[in-house]
Amino acid sequence: MRISTYVLKYAKVVLAIVLPSVLLAQQPVTIQIGKSTDSVQISKHIYGHFAEHLGRCIYDGLYVGEDNKTIPNTEGVRNDIIAALKELNIPNLRWPGGCFADTYHWKDGVGPQEDRPTIVNRWWGGTTEDNSFGTHNFLNLCEELGAEPYLSANVGSGTVQELIDWMQYTNHDGVSPMADWRRENGREEPWDVKYWGVGNETWGCGGNMTAEYYVDIYRKYATFMSDWNNTGGVYRIASGASEDDYHWTETLMKNVPHSLMDAVALHDYAVFDWNAKGPSVNFDEEIYFKSMEQALRMEEYVTKHVAIMDKYDPEGRVDLFVDEWGGWYDAEPEVQNGVLYQQNTIRDVMIAGTVLNTFNNHAKRVKMANLAQMVNVLQAVILTDEEKMIKTPTYHVMNMYKVHQDAMLLPSKIENNSQFRGLPAISVSASKGVDDTVHISLVNIDSKEQRTVEVNVADLDIKNLTAQILTSEKLQDHNSFNDPEKVVPGEFKDFKLRKGVLSIDIPAHSLIVLEGK
Ligand code: AHR
Repeated sequence: MRISTYVLKYAKVVLAIVLPSVLLAQQPVTIQIGKSTDSVQISKHIYGHFAEHLGRCIYDGLYVGEDNKTIPNTEGVRNDIIAALKELNIPNLRWPGGCFADTYHWKDGVGPQEDRPTIVNRWWGGTTEDNSFGTHNFLNLCEELGAEPYLSANVGSGTVQELIDWMQYTNHDGVSPMADWRRENGREEPWDVKYWGVGNETWGCGGNMTAEYYVDIYRKYATFMSDWNNTGGVYRIASGASEDDYHWTETLMKNVPHSLMDAVALHDYAVFDWNAKGPSVNFDEEIYFKSMEQALRMEEYVTKHVAIMDKYDPEGRVDLFVDEWGGWYDAEPEVQNGVLYQQNTIRDVMIAGTVLNTFNNHAKRVKMANLAQMVNVLQAVILTDEEKMIKTPTYHVMNMYKVHQDAMLLPSKIENNSQFRGLPAISVSASKGVDDTVHISLVNIDSKEQRTVEVNVADLDIKNLTAQILTSEKLQDHNSFNDPEKVVPGEFKDFKLRKGVLSIDIPAHSLIVLEGK
């Protein structure tokens, strides 16, 4: 074979392999968004948060103490954090853990400060805490924020009596030993706590139980949990599976009477190697890819856990609560008591945007989710350094996505997604609010390439469109105490609406929320 014939043949083979993917990458991604058909509401509780006694989340984070004269506070909780959380409309807050919850004895955190015993935080850094932040502080904070409290009860090292005493203390409005004690401690009205977790990660830090053993424990605890009026006002949440532990969900769904269980939990963190989670800021392209690969697995986990729940509960009585999720990296070494303290970059924007789209799209069964964690821990929305406070890029995602809270889900279908190294590049969810405003949230996870997306919105009556974008030049960009506004949302105009088709050029690694009226 002559050299020129050989070169020609080789070039044809290369073109045959490369050309289709090049063409595909250039083709617009098409998305159909339809009218809301089966009336699925996106529960506002999908936008929930989680605050554990861990590192600087509570002490030296959210809570600086009532005697603090330097940092303005309300009952010891920083005013700047309260204002930032109010802006997010946080619907619920889970507390006191996490693993800490199964070591926590609530009675040690009420009554006069000077009488409270200390507690050693055995899971997180072995620090000694003085129990100064307790039930009253937490429930009053929730009241101030207009958020539903979600109390995670101690099953691992607690008792049924301890839990039902806590319920009586927080919820009983009549005469009873615990309600009277609450009044003595300064609170007349009950707080009416609705959400109660029966242990946390009972397959791990909550007691290393098998699913079969936990079923019996759960049934016993749930039997004694009451809202005092038997009105069904109390919501009992079973400690759920980790990631793809489908056996756990199946065992619970099959063996716990559904009249005793209102929700099953699920925990899933975007971690690619538990022994080497990688840095929160100085990560490379490869680590970014692996993080996104893990984050996108949420779609598969939720789909499969929901399928099991559908099998045992076709009428949808039991909800799925993803009550811990987020990115988890190696902690920043230089931060004092910085247990699980990490920075938050554009990678976290990509994780939050895609995962929240998954939750929105599965809103029929996913009724609550809790980002881990709220302040100074894991994928936090807020970071503090003494009197300074900053909002992370993830804060801005939660703020942009809050428009979906309690809106009606609009079914969206991506018809030909383009790929980012084998991962779907584009993610979408859409909803219609009470005032008929439509919101479409789009994420392009590709680290380098923009994508043109054509969204068919002919079924929706949209005329005036505006949009916000959250992105930055580099994936590693983040907000710091010296540069707190490096990553903030901005106005976005690179779209056209013509004959019911919305054409958008979505830049690399960016998140966009469109609003149409
Ligand atoms: O959020 C940090 C920890 O992750 C929680 O305490 C635990 O529930 C999970 O393993």
